Amino acid sequence: MAITLEDVQKNEKIKVLVEHANKVLEVMGYTDHGPRHVGYVSRKAGEVLENLCKDQRRVELAKITGWVHDVGNMINRKHHGLNGAALLFPILDEMGMDIAEVCEVCSAVGSHEEETGLPISDISAALIIADKVDAHRARVRSKEFLPTDIHDRVNYSIQSTKLTVKEGTIAMDYTMNSGASPMDFLSIYLTRMQMCEKSARFLGCNFALHINGVKLNRWDETDGV
Ligand SMILES: [Fe+2]
Ligand SMILES: [Fe+2]
Repeated sequence: MAITLEDVQKNEKIKVLVEHANKVLEVMGYTDHGPRHVGYVSRKAGEVLENLCKDQRRVELAKITGWVHDVGNMINRKHHGLNGAALLFPILDEMGMDIAEVCEVCSAVGSHEEETGLPISDISAALIIADKVDAHRARVRSKEFLPTDIHDRVNYSIQSTKLTVKEGTIAMDYTMNSGASPMDFLSIYLTRMQMCEKSARFLGCNFALHINGVKLNRWDETDGV
């Protein structure tokens, strides 16, 4: 029987890794990387491939990859993709996942970081997009009413988000309030948005970034209205 997202979520070792990685990042002052973040990434990575009519097993593997992609933070933020892949390999193998699928998951996890990552498969491209677009007020852990840290301030100003895949365009729409500006957003998310562009191209699509209804990246004739 093929290993499902549910099997992976129920695995005790993976549960502890996901929780511990989130705890380490909390101490370091990072935004939420727990079940909310990995749950979002899992859902959205699956949706991207589903909307591109990929095989159901690729969709399931993208969901699994989304759930486990950040476990390497348990060791250190630096190179967490590479460490995560090395941690996951024996666990997924021990669970009975087909070895070729273990390789798919681990390659994608090992290639999702900004410093060392590049889209290397459809699963990896979907993971990068789902991960890098996840900015939202729900990720802010600070209890300050008006956070001073720029990551918290930008995330806190994002009220809602929408990721759509339609007619060759993967579009991300953010609705932000005046707590942060689009310039603030770009000052911390530019490289991530460029990784999304690269990943969308890998999937044969364009990537469109919108903030409060205004498109911020390149315009081309396939955009429509
Ligand atoms: Fe990550
Ligand atoms: Fe992540």
